[in-house]
Amino acid sequence: MAEASYSRGMAGVIAGETSIATVGQEGRGLSYRGYSIFDLAEHATFEEVAWLLLHGELPTADELAQFKAGLIEARLLPQALRTVLEKLPKTAHPMDVLRTGVSVLGCLEPEPETPTLDDQDRIARRLLGALPSMLMYWYQFAHHGKQIDTAAAGEGSVAGHFLDLLYGQGPDATQQRAVDVSLILYAEHEFNASTFTARITTSTLSDVYSTITSAIGTLRGPLHGGANEAAMALVEPLANADEAEGYIMEALARKDKIMGFGHRVYRDSDPRSDVIKGWSKTLSDTAGDARLYTVSERVEEVMRREKDLFPNLDFYSASAYHFLGIPTELFTPIFVLSRVAGWLAHVFEQRADNRLIRPSAVYTGPSDLPWVPVQGRS
Ligand code: COA
Repeated sequence: MAEASYSRGMAGVIAGETSIATVGQEGRGLSYRGYSIFDLAEHATFEEVAWLLLHGELPTADELAQFKAGLIEARLLPQALRTVLEKLPKTAHPMDVLRTGVSVLGCLEPEPETPTLDDQDRIARRLLGALPSMLMYWYQFAHHGKQIDTAAAGEGSVAGHFLDLLYGQGPDATQQRAVDVSLILYAEHEFNASTFTARITTSTLSDVYSTITSAIGTLRGPLHGGANEAAMALVEPLANADEAEGYIMEALARKDKIMGFGHRVYRDSDPRSDVIKGWSKTLSDTAGDARLYTVSERVEEVMRREKDLFPNLDFYSASAYHFLGIPTELFTPIFVLSRVAGWLAHVFEQRADNRLIRPSAVYTGPSDLPWVPVQGRS
């Protein structure tokens, strides 16, 4: 066994091997299965990327067509799941709704004890197709009392399906592509906290629904996926760039963390941020609404000047989603609709060469205490 070492928060610790993604290691930048994120964001669709992550190579035209057909088929939710979703209150956080929805699906359509590769593929398609349905079925029922048909024909892509269910009509090409690119950017990021959670759960030989449920719970926090909602809460009330500058200076003086900035692995910049920033600008121009983008740019400028910190993917995702008319509480759930592809790829990779993930801790508690009977304790 290698010599034990300790790093707080496991920073810099290499905790396993993967052939799925590189996150800036050895100058490789961000790549999925060897393809640069910039090429994927420019040329691919989310469905191609999901297939690539799950299967290790780009799909042929036939494979892609079959995969997309499978995702469309997977949009229909079982009646028992719809009933549960209808019981969840309007005040529930949509991340809790998704966590519950996946858990219910796991009860209704459990993974076989010894899943085959076909079973894994089928469940992957089921989750990718059903997650937007779960989210929007609950949202439209809780907020507008509507029992929507999540399987109605319409948009063929995950991005289009999500927007169709949100808007009540198909999105235009720019809206659809903006969400498609965002899903591509969010799809995978090596051993981030939620993916590592999924791998830990997998390593105990648990079922796939449990891995995704635990990953959703981990993604929910503002230091991880929840940062896009927190970034929106930060920029939304700021009236102009000068107000933004004043607010950030005060927040930094208080030693507040500015959500949507910084990263555990990247040191100088997050490559995904450049791409989503471009989309935020495009959508801001299309909406004819410069405020949020101008405010965001000034926040970026001040953070670079004062802390040498850079925006991560979550920061400009917030304004981009806002311009698309997406309610803030759905920002982190969109991350789930996408990252589920990466999680599943990691679950299957972990299974293919499994060893229980069980690190050790540095004990800092007391030792050798004398036993005191209950009557003698004060
Ligand atoms: N705002 C202000 N200061 C920040 C910061 C931020 N967003 N991110 C890091 N820092 C500062 C810390 O205060 C700390 O300063 P100090 O050494 O003077 O105490 C230093 O940078 C290191 O930060 P630390 O939190 O220890 O780094 P980490 O590697 O543990 O954390 C993050 C990485 C992502 C959790 C952290 O940057 C953060 O909390 N960002 C905001 C949340 C976010 O956007 N999460 C999404 C990540 S994709």
